[in-house]
This record gives sequence, C-alpha cells and structure tokens, in this order.
Amino acid sequence: MKLLFIGDIVGSPGRNAVKQLLPKLREQHALDFVIANGENSAGGNGITPKIAEELFSYGVDVITTGDHLWDQKEVVELLENEKRFLRPLNYPANVPGRGSGVFEIQNSKFKIKNSIGVMNLQGRTFMPPLENPFTLGLDEVKRLRAQTKIIFVDFHAEATSEKIAFARMLDGQVSAVVGTHTHVQTADEQIFPGGTAYLTDAGFTGPHESVLGREIEPVLKRFLTGMPQRFEVAKNRVLLHGAVIEIDDASGKAVKIQRVSESIV
Ligand SMILES: [Fe+2]
Ligand SMILES: [Fe+2]
Repeated sequence: MKLLFIGDIVGSPGRNAVKQLLPKLREQHALDFVIANGENSAGGNGITPKIAEELFSYGVDVITTGDHLWDQKEVVELLENEKRFLRPLNYPANVPGRGSGVFEIQNSKFKIKNSIGVMNLQGRTFMPPLENPFTLGLDEVKRLRAQTKIIFVDFHAEATSEKIAFARMLDGQVSAVVGTHTHVQTADEQIFPGGTAYLTDAGFTGPHESVLGREIEPVLKRFLTGMPQRFEVAKNRVLLHGAVIEIDDASGKAVKIQRVSESIV
C-alpha cells in the first residue's frame, strides 16, 4: 500500500493547497491512505470540527496534531467524538481523545481487507512536559501490532536527536516514523535496516514566503524588541510538504519513502 503524509497544514492557504493538490497526488502515486497533521489548520492555531470536516472532505483519512492541539476550544468536541482525529498519545490517562487508532484501508485492489495503525506522539525536548513518549510508544506499538503490521507514526517534536532515537527504537516494529513540528522539511529520508521508513521532519503545508508559515515582519519585530506580536498566517509561495511511503502489505515493512514538495498553480 501507499500512503501520503502531509506536514502541518497552516491556515487557509495550507487547506487550499490540500484541496488543490491532493487529487493530483492521489492519482500520481496511486495513494491508498492519507494522513495529515492539522495542528495549525485553523488560522495557524489549532483546529475546529468544521475545519477537520473540510480536510476529511478533501480526502484526508486521519488527522494528527501536536502542541497547538488546545488553541481552539471546540477541539474538545473532536477529541470526544471523532475517531479519525488523534492527539499526542502521551497526555495523562484522563485527558479526552486518543493517541492512536486502527483504520480500514478502503481499496478494491486488495484481496483481503487491510488496516493501518496510526499513532501520534509528542517529544519532550524544548516542548511542554508530557509523559514519556518512548515508553508509552513502545507499549502502544505492541497493542497495535496485535491488529496490523502496517503502522504509521507522526512524532511531533523539536529535537532531531529525540526524533531519530525514537524512530531507531521502533525500527522493524512500525512501517514509518515521520517527524513534524519544526515546519522545515529535512532531506534525511531513509529506510532503517529493520524496514522502518524515516524522515526527521515532513515540513509544513502553507505559505513559505514567511517564517514557518507566519508573516515575516511581526516575527522579526519580536526577535528585535522582545515585545509580544500577533503572528498572522502569511500568504505567498504556498507549498504542500510531506512524504509518500510505500509499504509491503504482508510484512508491514517500508519499501520506499519519497519526500513531497509541491506548489499550487
Ligand atoms: Fe506545526
Ligand atoms: Fe507543533
């Protein structure tokens, strides 16, 4: 099977990029499943049920998130009711929502019904403190592997070392680990010896004439003065960033990983 992971969708320019480019990418790569990080999809800050619905309508099958999870208060509705919506797994046990799920892959070319496990975790280096993603991630992968060998992980983290170490820990146990959060696409896509595809950061989907998707001037002003600023979503040079991963259905091992950086017309 082939899946597309879309890096952090930033605001309406990011959503428009998904709307415009996903049909083309689906055809070009014969995609079976689409996962997108939606933590910045509502004006750069969080996500609402209406926006999640919009992303699902464009062909996104599962939405992952990260540290911007709580920016919109309506997110609680998604956490409580929407199975296709994931938050970092490593929140304390009584927090609403789920950090993983198993989803059926809808594709008539498969003789037997196939399913994919998707897991979302958040790192702890230079990030708000959460439970240990390493220990919780290992336990969760054991549970997921009892249901399917095809497993995708969005590890939302700042530090490259934390991301690489986490992915190395899961080599051979999951199909792919792709990092999000830094909004800068890295060029280190590879398949580890055990068969796990890896990319330190998928990048972000939105306006790249910016600082990580925001207007340049206010960000610069904050660095120059230390004064708080409103960071509006920028507008220009909109790109869809992510990765296409091909996975062997029987073993769950990755066959190929290819970075995606597509611009809207
Ligand atoms: Fe983000
Ligand atoms: Fe983030």
